[in-house]
Amino acid sequence: MSAPTLLADLHTAHDWLAERGILPPEQRSETLPTPYVRFPDGRSVVSFCSNNYLGLNHRTEVKAAAVAALREHSHATSESRRLGGNLALLERLESDLAAFKNRPACMITATGLLANIAAVHGVLDASGLASRWHGSPRAAGIPAVIYDEHSHRSIRMGARQSSAERVRFRHNDADHLDRLLAARSGRPLLVVTEGVFSMDGDLADLPPLLDVCEGHGAALLLDDAHGTGVYGTDGAGTPSHLGVAGRVPLQVATLSKALGGMGGAVLGDERVIAMLRTFSSGYRFTSSLPPEQAAAAIAALIIVQTEPELRDTLWGNIRHFRAGLSHMGLHPMGDGPIVPLRLGTSQLAAKAEAMLIDAGYWCVAVAPPAVPPDSCRIRITVSAMHTKDHVDGLLNAISEVTAAIPELRRMNQ
Ligand SMILES: Cc1ncc(COP(=O)(O)O)c(C=O)c1O
Repeated sequence: MSAPTLLADLHTAHDWLAERGILPPEQRSETLPTPYVRFPDGRSVVSFCSNNYLGLNHRTEVKAAAVAALREHSHATSESRRLGGNLALLERLESDLAAFKNRPACMITATGLLANIAAVHGVLDASGLASRWHGSPRAAGIPAVIYDEHSHRSIRMGARQSSAERVRFRHNDADHLDRLLAARSGRPLLVVTEGVFSMDGDLADLPPLLDVCEGHGAALLLDDAHGTGVYGTDGAGTPSHLGVAGRVPLQVATLSKALGGMGGAVLGDERVIAMLRTFSSGYRFTSSLPPEQAAAAIAALIIVQTEPELRDTLWGNIRHFRAGLSHMGLHPMGDGPIVPLRLGTSQLAAKAEAMLIDAGYWCVAVAPPAVPPDSCRIRITVSAMHTKDHVDGLLNAISEVTAAIPELRRMNQ
């Protein structure tokens, strides 16, 4: 019997991509980065592809907290928060995160992707849903969401799930945002951007973006997945780093990057968060964060707040790495731990990844749909787990790849 048409189409697309080397299997590792990882063939390489910027998932206190919660509560709540899954530990994590981010209230979700979906669609749709289900006063006007064109897929998913008009503004372009908001004056408006862009590593230009939002009465939602724990002397993220902490009304954070765990968080005022808990599907219709993850995040947050020297180590490594690249004539975007080295095609990015693995360094290749087809790259992430020797070793390896693949120099000058 032949495959149904839809699946046959997938088979055709699969074979076309596979023939061109565009569907490489995911590299398997037997261990998690310490920063060393062991591959199945026994090779040990230094990983430069973890978002675990502070190495917190290897800290004894964090693991001990997770194990204790696992022993006490088991490994999952098996329910959503409202239907029995509201373990006290989860509320404790929410109040710790709210205090850390200096926001009135916090709502955690099972992943960061869900936090963005819950935040974006919830903020846009909750009052309409309240009106439909409970007869509360109808909000005036159809909402619009205007997001940076480089926004993470989960932000777009939240926008798409909502009933709002969806518009993109040019990357970090406050003037373009200003015009788009002016054209929608008087409507409920949400603007979304990222603190640190996940693929390019550059920062949102928050002060002018906030000026424009405030001028038009638009709410700004900042996805600070990669800023949390990394930026700001207190580690509270990009708003703190850029001196605008009190001006960002809505934030998303992930527990999966600098906090070294799993899960997401939405931060805002109490009434907004209460509405999201009731009407956001990314929160309401899925099981809650597992107890051991909540306990690990609570322990990790303490370290983030009490050991600023970890951030000093991270930033020392970042500066050393970026200075070494610059010395070689390579000037990747951003100023932080996410360092993109563009190569163009996915085949060249895969070739660079393979060469670096052979040299003992794992820097993962990124291809569409994560980045545009002509902008495939290796995405390097520096962490506090690395030493200067690791960084120097990677710089040497990159210099060899640069000699073998001229596009690397051409695209990163
Ligand atoms: C900017 C950004 N937001 C959200 C997410 C989703 O986070 P998580 O991996 O915790 O689901 C990611 C991770 O890929 C991200 O890079």
